[in-house]
Amino acid sequence: MPDIHCIGICTGGGDAPGLNAVIRAAVKAAILKYKWKVIGIPDGFDGIIWPERSHELTLKDVSGILPRGGTILGTTNRGNPFKYKTEGNGQEVVRDISDQVIANAEKLGIDAIISIGGDGSMKIAQELFRKGMKIVGVPKTIDNDLSATEVTFGFDTALHTATDAVDKIHTTAESHHRVMVVEVMGRDAGWIALGAGLAGGAHIILIPEIPFTLEKICEHLALRERYGKRFTIVVVAEGVKLPAEMKHMSRSMPVGNMVGDAIALISHKEVRVSVLGHIQRGGSPSPYDRILATRFGVAAVDLIAEGGFGKMVCLQQECIRAVDIADAVGRMKTVDPDGEIVQAARAIGISFGD
Ligand code: F6P
Repeated sequence: MPDIHCIGICTGGGDAPGLNAVIRAAVKAAILKYKWKVIGIPDGFDGIIWPERSHELTLKDVSGILPRGGTILGTTNRGNPFKYKTEGNGQEVVRDISDQVIANAEKLGIDAIISIGGDGSMKIAQELFRKGMKIVGVPKTIDNDLSATEVTFGFDTALHTATDAVDKIHTTAESHHRVMVVEVMGRDAGWIALGAGLAGGAHIILIPEIPFTLEKICEHLALRERYGKRFTIVVVAEGVKLPAEMKHMSRSMPVGNMVGDAIALISHKEVRVSVLGHIQRGGSPSPYDRILATRFGVAAVDLIAEGGFGKMVCLQQECIRAVDIADAVGRMKTVDPDGEIVQAARAIGISFGD
């Protein structure tokens, strides 16, 4: 077993509801179960570049943070110590300062680090592990697109937020007989769109995994009209692939607006667009996310105690397990276009625009 007295914790990449729950659980388990000291590293790995910014996390510091969104440690999706950007002679210079990061962690007395982050943070964690740093990972993303874990915390909360929005859009869509387009996050995966579309009773769901055409969307609008339905709700994933007929449109506007404009042009219907954006990343984590985040936080501390460095905690078959970070990075989990969930959606008349 490794000789551990002090651990560091950092959160990197985009925030997700439940980060504070992981921090709280890890700090509590480290102090109460193992009697370790815990150092909070601010703003991802940036916080070790300037070690004076780091500070001890006590039980008092994590009191009351369980229901809070965001991260008390701060985060960034830019701080990569292997490709650190600085200014030199008025020009941007990219340097590898990973040795400095490792040396600074040692100066702070940190024996091992818990890195809570998405794919980008895990890649950095893996590189630091290869250079000898004792590091374990906790996966997070609202996109739920990491294949090593069945679920990431933050996804459930984002899904609640997106579903709530679709519910609210429903009543106004119906009243005004409009086509309402709701754009949700999810990067290159359609999990939030599929989940919110199903849970919110959307009529058309557009996801990156299923190519769509405007013609099929219009066919579905016409079909609904034949049933006497004069409104339609379209949930669009931000990462959806545009059909050839939309490729000329400017990508400077949100994809939801592009889809909305294209539908209005072709169908001559009144269309309104809501882009949910970062609302999906904020707010208090759902009970599911709080519980998963707590389990991950405790498991990460246990992993350090067992010497499981270079590993990341994950959820598999409802149990918390650990996988090599090296095997976890870069392997995305996307929606299976022929899978059971998509088939269930199709069975109840939802169109994927294909
Ligand atoms: O990965 C989480 C996520 O919220 C994506 O769904 C979205 O594409 C991206 O981050 C937004 O990133 P940023 O906060 O940098 O705009």
